[in-house]
Amino acid sequence: MKKIFKRTSLLMAATFMGIATMQAQKSPQDMDRFIDALMKKMTVEEKIGQLNLPVTGEITTGQAKSSDVAKKIEQGLVGGLFNLKGVSKIRDVQKLAVENSRLGIPLLFGMDVIHGYETIFPIPLGLSCTWDMAAIEKSARIAAIEASADGISWTFSPMVDISRDPRWGRVSEGSGEDPFLGGAIAKAMVYGYQGTNLSDQMKRNDEIMACVKHFALYGAGEAGRDYNTVDMSRNRMFNEYMYPYEAAIEAGVGSVMASFNEIDGVPATANKWLMTDVLRKQWGFKGFVVTDFTGISEMIEHGIGDLQTVSARALNAGIDMDMVSEGFAGTLKKSITQGKVSMKTLDAACRRILEAKYKLGLFDNPYKYCDQNRPARDIFTKEHRDAARKIASESFVLLKNSSLPKQPGSPATPVLPLEKKGTVAVIGPLGNTRSNMPGTWSVAARLNDYPSLYEGLKEMMAGKVNITYAKGSNLISDAAYEERATLFGRSLNRDNRTDKEMLEEALKVAAGADVIIAALGESSEMSGESSSRTELAIPDVQRTLLETLLKTGKPVVLTLFTGRPLTLTWEQKNVPAILNVWFGGSEAAYAIGDVLFGDVNPSGKLTMTFPKNVGQIPLFYNHKNTGRPLKEGKWFEKFRSNYLDVDNAPLYPFGYGLSYTTFQYSDIALSTPTMDQNGSITAVVTVTNTGKRDGAEVVQLYIHDLVGSITRPVRELKGFEKIFLRAGESKTVSFKITPELLRFYDYDLNHVAESGEFDIFIGGSSQAKKTARLTLK
Ligand code: NOJ
Repeated sequence: MKKIFKRTSLLMAATFMGIATMQAQKSPQDMDRFIDALMKKMTVEEKIGQLNLPVTGEITTGQAKSSDVAKKIEQGLVGGLFNLKGVSKIRDVQKLAVENSRLGIPLLFGMDVIHGYETIFPIPLGLSCTWDMAAIEKSARIAAIEASADGISWTFSPMVDISRDPRWGRVSEGSGEDPFLGGAIAKAMVYGYQGTNLSDQMKRNDEIMACVKHFALYGAGEAGRDYNTVDMSRNRMFNEYMYPYEAAIEAGVGSVMASFNEIDGVPATANKWLMTDVLRKQWGFKGFVVTDFTGISEMIEHGIGDLQTVSARALNAGIDMDMVSEGFAGTLKKSITQGKVSMKTLDAACRRILEAKYKLGLFDNPYKYCDQNRPARDIFTKEHRDAARKIASESFVLLKNSSLPKQPGSPATPVLPLEKKGTVAVIGPLGNTRSNMPGTWSVAARLNDYPSLYEGLKEMMAGKVNITYAKGSNLISDAAYEERATLFGRSLNRDNRTDKEMLEEALKVAAGADVIIAALGESSEMSGESSSRTELAIPDVQRTLLETLLKTGKPVVLTLFTGRPLTLTWEQKNVPAILNVWFGGSEAAYAIGDVLFGDVNPSGKLTMTFPKNVGQIPLFYNHKNTGRPLKEGKWFEKFRSNYLDVDNAPLYPFGYGLSYTTFQYSDIALSTPTMDQNGSITAVVTVTNTGKRDGAEVVQLYIHDLVGSITRPVRELKGFEKIFLRAGESKTVSFKITPELLRFYDYDLNHVAESGEFDIFIGGSSQAKKTARLTLK
């Protein structure tokens, strides 16, 4: 009886306020009235409770009913939980909140659903290399369908931190170095999770709330060391880093996660300028802000106060929900009594959490995401896996594909694609590992259910190609390093044999093969959170293995697993073919097979520069010219901006990626060379597939503002279109250039399009040569 009363009382409050049914479409006024009525009944403790997102450890170990967290839920002291997996478990916990707490307010269930749920897509950096917004949106849509089927209402994605430093392991979770592309991807992800129509996002039970993170500038930590200090000018922030967060907000993202780093000496979590002036006042964000994990208590370590002080600072800055620290839960009441935090501020934060729950429809139906029939129907389905396989194959970047004679004296042909015959040896520590296929930050992955590369190729090529395997080497010679790099059940089962014994086995397997696929690179946990590296070469023992394999004289295809740009200068020089497959997700093995054997023509283009060596970092395409630029094509000139020991150029530039076919670009035709502040110009090119295979090309538009009131980058991406061309086919691609596209933040941070001349470049990478000049009057 008690339980029914609790639930009914909430519904009655709504009915009393004149809401006939809780199911129908409701206006913002309906929401306000509902929340007003509810908040009138809430005690200060219950309001603070809504801001509390505690650690769920106890519940995940199955103690739900008797755990400390469970008690807090019943007392109305918890607003949500995260990373709890399984619809039955979530339903049970939701029941505690809805039936056993005084006001029956439902909980949010969050999870790091970063690049898929059980059907896993490529790591986000890989996904971004598809440059295919429809595919990226689809990946998020499928992730939302699967997560929502398992009880999840909220994902901590998209991660949109721009980064120019591949030493930082979390570049794997983002979309690379460009804010224009990053913004487009941020929008696609939010639409995928929440729905595309801003007026009715999150209404369906297979749409979930997104959380854009990590606000802000988390990708700019000094020296690429995770969690490190950030310091940058406002000018750089707004011109080069902020847009992807803003784009997510334009797409209606329901929540924002604060970053761990400081900005202007104040941690983002306590930074009022960031969380209130920029986020809410300037950008009009209406959702709620959650801390990243122990972001509040970490401010004690940052050295800006004790738990009570930092909790009050966070709330006053504009943080609404405290993940894990329990600083709000433990200290806010005292701060209110002491006048350090006002009731008004607490109410505003509490309201934002309740609004999110309301928008998700949890007050209508707290079990909206707890349909126990859905997991079997909606998770890891054939349809989802087929989509993941296709998208994974689009994410791979062909870095090199030179031609070799098949037999001595015969004409040289490209190493890839491989013929479906003979014997192909898969050799390398990444060649036969299931748990490393999905890639970092795949918390819901079924680690043992995805085929390894060897297994996948064997299955696909049965009856056609004899696929053989040898491990060849461990991941890294240093066992302790390997252990640090293979956490969370992603072990590579370190081999106890000597390096020599492993090499000998590899050579034996190689001897029987026509072609060698060298499956090398990083383990999945060598990138991701807390996985910064100072050396970005393929690890020692693997390089030795690669050298040994090359000495056999057989064609070697380096099939590179990595979560970040690596330094591949030696490989580029010595290995005939390199296919970068990132971490492609649950279907990666099949997708790699599709590309290696030519059923899919690779079309991925890099979204992050590959440097020649670590010393060049940060290296990015949209840099400034400086007052002493090095002349094009030069290596070193005294008193110019350059190095004595390496040239300035990257190994592989932003936007770069090869295909099994070739594309040719016509000159650029402009509809008119000048426009005024209300005008526009169309730039048109014709792209022709000049090779023998069908293929997709990412046509990229870059702009250079020749003279500005502040210095402007040498190039900036301002448009792209992915087109598919049959062999021999031509298509025209047009880009509309408006003054809006030419805007930037000037010295005083006004968003302006200054009149003057602009060079545009169109082509297949950031080094596009076709150019035209236009003038903005
Ligand atoms: C810390 C990570 O920085 C963040 O990306 C993640 O969403 C939270 N932990 C929750 O797991």
